[in-house]
Amino acid sequence: MWRIQIIHGPNLNLLGQRAPEVYGRLTLAEIDERLRACAAEAGVKLRTFQSNHEGDIVDAVHQAAGWADGLVINPGAYTHYSYAIRDAIAGVGLPAVEVHLSNVQAREPFRHTSVIAPVCVGQIVGFGWQSYRLGLAALIDWLEPPHSGNES
Ligand code: DQA
Repeated sequence: MWRIQIIHGPNLNLLGQRAPEVYGRLTLAEIDERLRACAAEAGVKLRTFQSNHEGDIVDAVHQAAGWADGLVINPGAYTHYSYAIRDAIAGVGLPAVEVHLSNVQAREPFRHTSVIAPVCVGQIVGFGWQSYRLGLAALIDWLEPPHSGNES
């Protein structure tokens, strides 16, 4: 049974009240609940974590390495400049999928850059909470043989 760590970055605890026209109306707790249902259906174990602090996210990535087979991460605004989170993901070597609720490419120019994406197996953006669902499905698919990190 695959074990997947979900990591939500800064300000995602405000979902539901934060710019609902951009991020939707679901709260983070509701998103996590839906993801737990998806995980149960897919037969994988899930842990979820949210922090507004860069170092805590770095620690969560390190800790995931002792438990998880892969990560689904929405690094929030840290996406655009956190070399520390990027280095943590690269350092532990866990396959990671970067997800964003909004279509970051259709927003302000500073959101077009991700310093995290180059150390991830892929990126899913713009589908609201479903970006997480699709990210989880993509990661599970990536983990399954014959993929397991290979192009096939
Ligand atoms: C976000 C996009 C980021 O640019 C922003 O800073 C967020 C949320 C998203 O999920 O769309 O906090 O990661």
